[in-house]
Amino acid sequence: DGSVDMQKGIGRKIVPVVVIDDADDAVGLCEALLEGGMDVVEVTFRTAAAAGAIERIKQALPEMLVGAGTVLTGEQAEQCLDIGVDFALAPGLNERIVERFADAEVLFIPGVMTPSEIEWGLDLGCKLMKYFPAESAGGIKMLKSIAGPYGETGVKLCPTGGVSLENMMDYLEMPVVECVGGSWLATREQISGHEWDTITGQARKAMRVLLG
Ligand code: 3PG
Repeated sequence: DGSVDMQKGIGRKIVPVVVIDDADDAVGLCEALLEGGMDVVEVTFRTAAAAGAIERIKQALPEMLVGAGTVLTGEQAEQCLDIGVDFALAPGLNERIVERFADAEVLFIPGVMTPSEIEWGLDLGCKLMKYFPAESAGGIKMLKSIAGPYGETGVKLCPTGGVSLENMMDYLEMPVVECVGGSWLATREQISGHEWDTITGQARKAMRVLLG
């Protein structure tokens, strides 16, 4: 329903992580994802087109939940808040950015990879954190080890980085995992090549696996 719960997160299990080179591609991309049963997207601030892309999606497709990814600077955080993103993420944990989004009461999901980073995030009031880069950091095995000492804290993680159609359920079956993110659902090349049917097919396939 396009809403975000500051405590529980975004309420979606799979988040397509996208890099958009031309803001004109944004609506077509999201229509393709919606067609495949996905109503959430993380638009990364890795291209100059990101802010414009998010604005267009929000205008044209209010049913789409739109997050900003790779938010690395205070300037980008302000841009996100001006546009009215539904949520935001980063690969790492930047205390100033955590606090800026908290002040604005917009869900921010910082990236963590180690026990100390998880404790730091918890201390700052973050319940949902991105576990990045998931596969390189040790994947399921690492998460199982982390879930031991931190299970009781209520921390929830969103593994991203190397997550695929093949391994996503292994992650999602873990109680500490809230959702997963990945670029396999819509690659940069597929987006700039307007391969909407391919993207719809990938989204649909993932939703089928998710729903069993
Ligand atoms: C991210 O920004 O979260 C990652 O680049 C996505 O990782 P993936 O390309 O391995 O899915």
